[in-house]
Amino acid sequence: MSFRSGRLRGEVPRDVAEFTSSLGFDREIYVETLVINAVHLKMLARLGFLGEDVLARGLAALKEAYSSPLKMDDPRLEDVHMVVEDFLIKSVPEAGENLALGKSRNDTVATAIRMRVKARCLETADSALKLLENLLEKSLAEAETLYPATTHLQVAAPATLGFILTSYASRLLSALDGLTKIYEAIDECPQGAAACCGSTLPIDRGWLASQLGFKRVLENALDASSSRDFIIDILSAALKLMVVASDMAEQLIHDFTAGLIDMGDEFCSTSSIMPQKRNPVVLEVARTKASETLGELVRAASMIQRRVGGYVLDLQQVTPSVWAALSEAENTLNLLTRVVESLRVREGEAEGRCGWEAGMVELANHLALRHGVGFRKAHRACGRVARMLAEGGLTEDGLKNALEAEGISVALSLEDALKILSPRSVVSAYATLGSANPLEVKRMVEEMRNRAAGLRSWVAEKRRILEAVLERAFNPHAR
Ligand code: ARG
Repeated sequence: MSFRSGRLRGEVPRDVAEFTSSLGFDREIYVETLVINAVHLKMLARLGFLGEDVLARGLAALKEAYSSPLKMDDPRLEDVHMVVEDFLIKSVPEAGENLALGKSRNDTVATAIRMRVKARCLETADSALKLLENLLEKSLAEAETLYPATTHLQVAAPATLGFILTSYASRLLSALDGLTKIYEAIDECPQGAAACCGSTLPIDRGWLASQLGFKRVLENALDASSSRDFIIDILSAALKLMVVASDMAEQLIHDFTAGLIDMGDEFCSTSSIMPQKRNPVVLEVARTKASETLGELVRAASMIQRRVGGYVLDLQQVTPSVWAALSEAENTLNLLTRVVESLRVREGEAEGRCGWEAGMVELANHLALRHGVGFRKAHRACGRVARMLAEGGLTEDGLKNALEAEGISVALSLEDALKILSPRSVVSAYATLGSANPLEVKRMVEEMRNRAAGLRSWVAEKRRILEAVLERAFNPHAR
C-alpha cells in the first residue's frame, strides 16, 4: 500500500482490491517468489548496493518467511510480491526498501511462474511414469492373454490384453517425451528484464539464471517480462497426456461394461435406487479430463492473444489455468495407476469375444499366400464364410460353396480353416514389428521400460537442479 500513496490518493476500497488481487492463487508461487527475492538481494550485494550485513539479515528474514509462511489475506497488498516486500521492509528495512531496485513484479512473476511450472512438470512426469510402469508390468503379465482388438468399436482382430495395454503405454511415452521437450524449451530465465525494457543497473542476467536453476536467459526484456506463450506449450503437453488418459478410461469403461475386465470396488459406485448397479465412476470422471484441460487451454490462450506491448494485468488471470490443469492431470494419472493395478481380466469372456470371425484376414492371407489366390477374391470368399458364421454356423459344405462361389478351387477342410481362424494361432502368427504377437509384446515392454528408465533419470536430474536452487537461496555464502 505504501507504494500507492506517492502517485495515488486515498485507500483502495476492499472490493476493488479483491477484484484485482492475485493473492487468492499466489500461494502456488510463494516459495519461488522468496527465492527470486533472495537471489536479487545477492545480486544487489554483488553490485555493491547492499552491505554484507544487510544481505545476511535480509536472507535470514526471507528464510524465516520460507519456514513460517506469511499470511496473504490483505488484498490491499495486491499480490505475493507486495506481501514479501512489506514483510522485508518491516523486518530488515535496509534490504526491504531496496527490494524493487532493478527488479519489477513483472519479471519476478514471469520467473516465478516458470520456476513453479518446471517443478509441477516434474511432478506430472512422475505421475505419468508411474502409470506407464504399471501399464508395462500389467502388459507383461497379460502378454499372452487373448483379448479382442476393435476398430469402429467392433471386434476386428484377435490380440492380447498385454498388447492393448502397451498401446496406451506407447502413447504415454510419446506424451511424456513431449513434456520433457517442452520443459527444455521453456527452461529460460526472464529475471532481470525488469518492468519491460531491462534496467540501467548492470545486472548479470546469466548469473541470475544459473542461481535460479535455469539453463538459459530469456533475453528480450519485453518478451521476458510479459509473454505467457509458454503456457500454451505446457497446457498442450498436459492436454496430450489427458487425451491418452481419457481414451484409456473410455476403453476400460467399455470393456468393464462388456464384462471383459473387472476392477476394484473402490473405483465403482452403486445406484441409490438400483441396488444391482456397479458403476465405473472413477473412469467416467477420468474420461472428462481431456475436455477440462482443453477448457483451460482455451481459457489461457484467449486471455493472452490480444495484448499490446508489455505487461497488462490480464496476464495475472491466466496462471490459475496452469495450476488447475496440472493438478487435474496429476490426480487423473495417479488414480488411473491404481485402477490399472486393480484390473483383472475375465479370460474366458475375453477369449470368447475374439471369436472366429476376427481371424478372417488370416484365412484370406492363407488362400493368397499358400494357394496363389488373388487377395481380393480371397477376401470376398472369406466374407461369405464370415456371413455363414454370423448367420448360423459354418459347415464343410458351406466352406466349399463359399470358395466355389468365388471361383476358388483349393482343397481346404473345415478343420484346417478353423485352425487358421483360431485366435490363439492368429496371435502367435503375427510376424511384423510392433504386432500383437506375445513375443513382440514382451519385446516392446522391455524397450519401453528402458525408455521409461531414461525418463526417470531425466526427472531425477532436473529435480536435483531445482533442489540445489532452494538449498543455496538463503545462504549468503552461496553465490
Ligand atoms: N500479480 C501480478 C501477476 O500475478 C504481478 C504484478 C504485476 N502488476 C503490475 N501492476 N505490473 O501477474
